[in-house]
Amino acid sequence: MKISDWTIDDSRARGCKRWGVYPSSTIDLTVAEMDFPVADPILNAVQDAVGRQAFGYPIPDADSTLPAVASRWLGAQGVSVPPQQVRLISDIIKGLTNAIRYFTAPGTPVAVITPTYSRFLDAVTAAERLIYQVPMTRTTDRYELDLDALENAFKNGSGSLILCNPVNPTGHVFTRSELTAISHLAERYRVRVFADEVHAPIRYGREFIPYSSVGSRAAEHSITFTSASKAWNIPGLRCAFIAFTNEADNRTWERIPRAAKGGISPLGMVATEAALTSGGPWLTEAIEVLRGNRDAMVDALGESGLGHIMIPPDATYLAWLDLREFELADAAEYLRDVAAVATTPGGEHGAAESGFVRVNFATPRDVLLEAVDRMTSALRATRPRGTILSEYEVASH
Ligand SMILES: Cc1ncc(COP(=O)(O)O)c(C=O)c1O
Repeated sequence: MKISDWTIDDSRARGCKRWGVYPSSTIDLTVAEMDFPVADPILNAVQDAVGRQAFGYPIPDADSTLPAVASRWLGAQGVSVPPQQVRLISDIIKGLTNAIRYFTAPGTPVAVITPTYSRFLDAVTAAERLIYQVPMTRTTDRYELDLDALENAFKNGSGSLILCNPVNPTGHVFTRSELTAISHLAERYRVRVFADEVHAPIRYGREFIPYSSVGSRAAEHSITFTSASKAWNIPGLRCAFIAFTNEADNRTWERIPRAAKGGISPLGMVATEAALTSGGPWLTEAIEVLRGNRDAMVDALGESGLGHIMIPPDATYLAWLDLREFELADAAEYLRDVAAVATTPGGEHGAAESGFVRVNFATPRDVLLEAVDRMTSALRATRPRGTILSEYEVASH
């Protein structure tokens, strides 16, 4: 099936969280999942595994073919890691929670660059640590890392940094100079860097530099987390991997109790292997559809006079809308109630982010444009802060 032939009814029929929570009149642009059909090679591999009743416990990493496949795939994008140092885990957040628990000094806070994926904040809490939020700075056309704020986080005792690259929710792709600056600071303050690079395959032309590739020290002090779940839209299949670019970390991983590492699905393993070996053509098609959606959204916002609320993302299928100029106590709630469009509240992505909402634009183009139209109408109905009232409005107040 062509990606553009997929409909919302097809997504609803999946019976998953996406399109399964809000009333049918609401356009749901929340959960980061694509309203796209799954790539044929993945579907075939999973159907074959279902036919073989591959419902047992998964084969251990060392006996599976997936680490070698993942090592080659990671190598092609610049992460140099031998197969025996690619370890499987059910999902990134579980891997990250383990990393905080077992690879940092007990009790040390965790620095997180915000806005960020909400579950990172949960992962820190699940590991019973404090979060040190490091907000990025917004200029008119991009987000920038605040190195002084990051250094403060390290000076104040953070033992690790969660680096999401590309960033969920802004789509920012960190530059080599930003990553190098982070690595110098991490080295100076002896901080571990946990790099989540799951969104890297979905980019619109911007070069991607893996954190572990910026220098040998960066490779040693970092651990990289990724999976096929975002780029190929299979998060429910429960399979992710961790690239230990430091051999000693791989040995530490061996010692972590198995109870903390289980939950990988054999179906996820075959799906992931199919994605990494044969999912390229589907991904190329998906990126083109997503690029079209992103550009159509930017154009539609521009035509309604609100082009400035969205900095076009260089990666991901997420748009981060800056609604601070509107007088809204809770922008996501307002859009849900007035425009019947569900978005993710900015506050979930960091303490400094209320006034923003995150929009998933991986949905059929007509649905996306309908949502943008509903949102812009609702936003125009609010009074922007600092508007000069006309004589008539002053008189009638
Ligand atoms: C940056 C990032 N990391 C991880 C995940 C979730 O990965 P997993 O389901 O493997 O925990 C997401 C999901 O949206 C994400 O955006």
